[in-house]
Amino acid sequence: MQNNNSKNQITGLQRFSDLLPAPHPLARRSFLRSLGLGAALLTPVAGALTGVARGALAAGNSNVINAGDAAILRFLAAAELLETDLWQQYTELATGNEPYMGAIEAIDDDFPQYIADNTDDELSHATFLNAYLAAGGAQPVNLDPFRTLPSSQATGARQIGRLTNLLNLTVDTSWWIRYRSPRNPDFGATFPQLINIVDRPAIPPYDLPSGSKQIQAIANTAAFHFGTIEQGGASLYTSLATKVSDLTALRIVTSIGGVEVYHFAIWSDGAGNVPAVKVPGLVFPDIATVFEGDPLREKDLIMPEPCEFIDPNLPLCSVIRPTSPQNAGAMAAVTALTKSGLFIGQSREFFQTLHALARAADNAYRICG
Ligand SMILES: [Fe+2]
Ligand SMILES: [Fe+2]
Repeated sequence: MQNNNSKNQITGLQRFSDLLPAPHPLARRSFLRSLGLGAALLTPVAGALTGVARGALAAGNSNVINAGDAAILRFLAAAELLETDLWQQYTELATGNEPYMGAIEAIDDDFPQYIADNTDDELSHATFLNAYLAAGGAQPVNLDPFRTLPSSQATGARQIGRLTNLLNLTVDTSWWIRYRSPRNPDFGATFPQLINIVDRPAIPPYDLPSGSKQIQAIANTAAFHFGTIEQGGASLYTSLATKVSDLTALRIVTSIGGVEVYHFAIWSDGAGNVPAVKVPGLVFPDIATVFEGDPLREKDLIMPEPCEFIDPNLPLCSVIRPTSPQNAGAMAAVTALTKSGLFIGQSREFFQTLHALARAADNAYRICG
């Protein structure tokens, strides 16, 4: 898929990046990641943008963000910071660790570019949301005190503190079947795993040989984790959009949410190309042949199957699922991410902070008129 160079529209960031050299062929859109700005400088960058955003608000869109919208946008800012952190780790290794890059490219030649671009998108989401919050008189979210988890020791990984842990993931692959099914979890449906990926690394913990089964199993794990993360984002944004009051806040939530869906579609398609590989405790079959003729698992059936929606008596409809607050709200997202092992090693204070943000977002409700 062709890259779109005009995508980053946050002019403050672009101007800043223009002052700095691009260290990698993929860095056209991933300059912030390459320079390590994602973590350390998020708050200053958001601060620098505040004046721009305040001008936009003063131009007539809104003035002060109401408490419910602020709670929703704050939780989403936190989610985006977490997403940025994990995608940043993927980018460092998919572009800086030859054996891992080779295994990722064995799935799809374009994946290193897509991974870097997905990272930049998440960073733009976090930065924009925090800047908008600040401009509207609400407190931005800063997770920097929780950047305490260790980095991979493999070549390519920067040795900095991380928010997320990609070394012990239990990847929920049930979305593969959920989106091929006419059933909807919001009506109580549950779905089996396509592949059982339990307590596995999605990035190399240390340098591994090129072409080895271990490195391919790690890359395959990542390929499914990409879809898992982005389908969660698609459900989360769609769910929280129904609680937003202000039209500008609604525009922000639906516009960013649409990009989460876009990402999910890309990764949902790509995951089907993982090479067959078997290592102790983990088996990736040849998806194209093993599941041929199975409508719940067949590789090419990537368009969302129409499913139950709103009321089971209404016709089936092709939609994002789930979107109910209990299945797709902020706390549901935190629970799913926690169960996946993404936060293994995080502090009690981290969970308290994330839970408080999630509860506040879930407690928000739409005010009409
Ligand atoms: Fe995002
Ligand atoms: Fe995302």
